[in-house]
Amino acid sequence: MRLIGNKTKLLGQIEGFLAERRVRSGTFLDVFAGTASVGQHFRRLGFTVHTNDLLAASYVRQRATVALGRCPRLSAVVKTPEVRAFCASAPGEAALARTPAPDGASADLRRVVAYLNAGLRPRPGFMSEHYAEGGRGERLFFSRANGAKLDAVHDQLCAWRAGGALGDDGFYLLLSALLDAADRVANISGTYGAFLKALQRSAREPLTLKVPELEPGLPQGVAHRADANELVRELRVDVAYMDPPYNQRQYVKNYHVLEVLAELHEVTDRAAYAEGIYGKTGLRAFPQRLSAYCRKGRGVCREAFRDLVHSAQAEHLVISYSEEGILSREDIGSALAEACGQRSYDYARNHTTIDYKRFRSDGDAARSYRVLDGRKRDQVHEWLFYARKPRRMLRKAG
Ligand SMILES: C[S@@+](CC[C@H](N)C(=O)[O-])C[C@H]1O[C@@H](n2cnc3c(N)ncnc32)[C@H](O)[C@@H]1O
Repeated sequence: MRLIGNKTKLLGQIEGFLAERRVRSGTFLDVFAGTASVGQHFRRLGFTVHTNDLLAASYVRQRATVALGRCPRLSAVVKTPEVRAFCASAPGEAALARTPAPDGASADLRRVVAYLNAGLRPRPGFMSEHYAEGGRGERLFFSRANGAKLDAVHDQLCAWRAGGALGDDGFYLLLSALLDAADRVANISGTYGAFLKALQRSAREPLTLKVPELEPGLPQGVAHRADANELVRELRVDVAYMDPPYNQRQYVKNYHVLEVLAELHEVTDRAAYAEGIYGKTGLRAFPQRLSAYCRKGRGVCREAFRDLVHSAQAEHLVISYSEEGILSREDIGSALAEACGQRSYDYARNHTTIDYKRFRSDGDAARSYRVLDGRKRDQVHEWLFYARKPRRMLRKAG
């Protein structure tokens, strides 16, 4: 999943930043998880991880990664007549041979993915109608063939789940693989804020699910889909890692197509749901998923951040933020000092700066950003802040 502001390249620095403060184990909450890459990393280090985000697409990914203790049982799916017949056929055997099995994946998972890729007949449905070539509004996010494949796989997963053959863990694992597959062939350059006028080469490649990599044996984490400010009040953890959005681009508006795909299985009345889809790119309103951290005007964002760190029930607070963000270094430092009962924030001790390459998306290629003094084009700084909350300021663990 390509996501603005994902921290995949900064994992080592975040780990080191905490290790320097002797934080090496415990419970870890990735409050604004996005791709869940930070939560996943700390899970590998042995932390017991909780992840959270407002987005349904992030929740699906969290369920498929940090919240999965072992490879889900898929024997009932493999025994369905359609999968059994496919796997016994010559095309099925050839498809299986083309389907590599990464670490932790079971033979059944490989069979199911091979069936979804090569055994299932494409069938246009909701996603084709609203987001693919030839659909209503000609929204060219997917080719006609990939739109029909997307719908067929999605609807098959829902049918297996409704029929009892597929449990929740297996469902989210395969839905997450479908979201990744859709993202690889999406006809966009970066985000879903716009589609390209003609199908680019990657969008003409056939939509293909990869067998997900699993990490059995790691402590099982918990996925959440809540507002950050509400969750941090409730959940007592040792470490809260906070990577809020830093500019006015609302995530849900930039990833709305994945968001629709991620929540479509929860929709009971698709016709009514479709009525909420509008405009050139097929947006939906998603009022509950608009973030205070992207609001125009620094005041709202500053208040949300102060409340977040003040309410957080965690001894160790780590904040990631971009120097180009709405909040200033002083906004963050003073909120942390106040939340931890200190008179001022010790920047020399608790704050560091990392060189980072700017994320560019559609339209951005042409956008000219101010080149900051003494920097190369696209070189920006990412900030890390640490603060320790005295235990007396935390509620008792319950
Ligand atoms: C900078 S991104 C996080 C990137 C993440 N660390 C990664 O590596 O992928 C910010 C995330 O915060 C989420 N978000 C924004 N406001 C939120 C809120 N109030 N509560 C929960 N999540 C929120 C967005 O949906 C987005 O996924």
